[in-house]
Amino acid sequence: MSKVIVSPVESFSLNISDIAPDKSISHRSAMFAMLAKGTSKISNFLRAEDTMNTLEIVKNLGAKVEDDGNTIKISSDGIKEPFEILDCGNSGTGMRLFCGLLSSAEGHFVLTGDKYLRSRPMKRVTNPLREIGAVIDGREDSNLAPLSIRGASLKAFDYESKIASAQVKSCMILAALRADGECTYTEPELSRDHTEKMLKGMGADVVVDGLKTTIKPMNKPLEPVFISVPADPSSAFFFAVAAAITPDADVTLEGITLNHTRIEAFKALERMGADITYDTTSDKYEPIGNIRVKYAPLKAITVEDNISWLIDELPALSIAFACAEGESVVKNAEELRVKESDRISTVVDGLNACGIETTEYDDGYTVTGGKLSSAIVDSDGDHRIAMSFIIAGLRCGMEVTDLDCINTSFPNFFDILKRITKIEIN
Ligand code: S3P
Repeated sequence: MSKVIVSPVESFSLNISDIAPDKSISHRSAMFAMLAKGTSKISNFLRAEDTMNTLEIVKNLGAKVEDDGNTIKISSDGIKEPFEILDCGNSGTGMRLFCGLLSSAEGHFVLTGDKYLRSRPMKRVTNPLREIGAVIDGREDSNLAPLSIRGASLKAFDYESKIASAQVKSCMILAALRADGECTYTEPELSRDHTEKMLKGMGADVVVDGLKTTIKPMNKPLEPVFISVPADPSSAFFFAVAAAITPDADVTLEGITLNHTRIEAFKALERMGADITYDTTSDKYEPIGNIRVKYAPLKAITVEDNISWLIDELPALSIAFACAEGESVVKNAEELRVKESDRISTVVDGLNACGIETTEYDDGYTVTGGKLSSAIVDSDGDHRIAMSFIIAGLRCGMEVTDLDCINTSFPNFFDILKRITKIEIN
């Protein structure tokens, strides 16, 4: 798939029950199963490149994985030294969480990824891990993959992170589970909390008090994971924006995790004027339910707080900014620069190509709402950039190139899009 041409649409009304399963929860369920005694059962696991790479790594680490195409069963009697290099593909979550999991495991492990992942900063995890005794090396003094890990004993720690990053937090929590004493991890702002919730559900001694998480080392294996992975709010959000920018559109997104650290972008869209309702249908590890989004004229907003709660959705939210009245502002979002692409540049360049006025800052950007014009936008290998500009095409028509990246998180994106508009894929 090298390019797609998207046709503009007048309006649409749709219930979507097949949004891709949550990527963060899928990664974690496969990895955490390795910490359990007994067989974990995971249904609705995300079958996308990133998470299938994680599953492959779990197999390479000696776990028994049975997959009937519906439920994935994982059992492990401890992490084994792998024969293979562990390939995380495009996934920062995969690489950073495996660093925490493997730093204390017996053996030698090499983690690598695609050319994009091999350019993303890993010091944020390798530094604190090295401080507690982990033996890790990599290019640029362990900042860049490939990373080589020699499992070692880890010391207990009290770590205060400067970045609100669920990947760093999860990495350190995994390391803490096998450190030689009680550990604490404090973050500057709450980041997504699936790791804490899931590990607690598996019986780990993880206590969250505001921004501080206290972890006691596990003295026995955890309980297996039994989960049906909810739909991914970050993937659902593309279709929320589609409805918010299309006059008279109405979309219901079903079975989404309503975890409050994950739906901030929907709240932002609501602040812009979109008509959004939430209906919780179940609440086990996390609240799950439906989100209905109806079109209403949009106005500009400023986004500057709890950035990590909507960091993945900012590219799509920026398409809504382009369709709103006034100047929207994004601040405190320097983390965007080290995602699958430099998302401040890719968003700003893409919007400029569509005739939208922007200003770029080190930690954010502004977007002045206007008339989106059809353009050719390259994704720069970044799935969220590709899907955001494809959604913009619903207003004005668009050609988006470099599309294979969409398979990292949302393989059925085009199947859903086809229910809304005409697309031509080459
Ligand atoms: C993720 C955390 C976020 C997010 C990423 C998935 C996770 O990254 O951007 O897509 O599953 O923990 P950071 O924690 O680095 O902000």
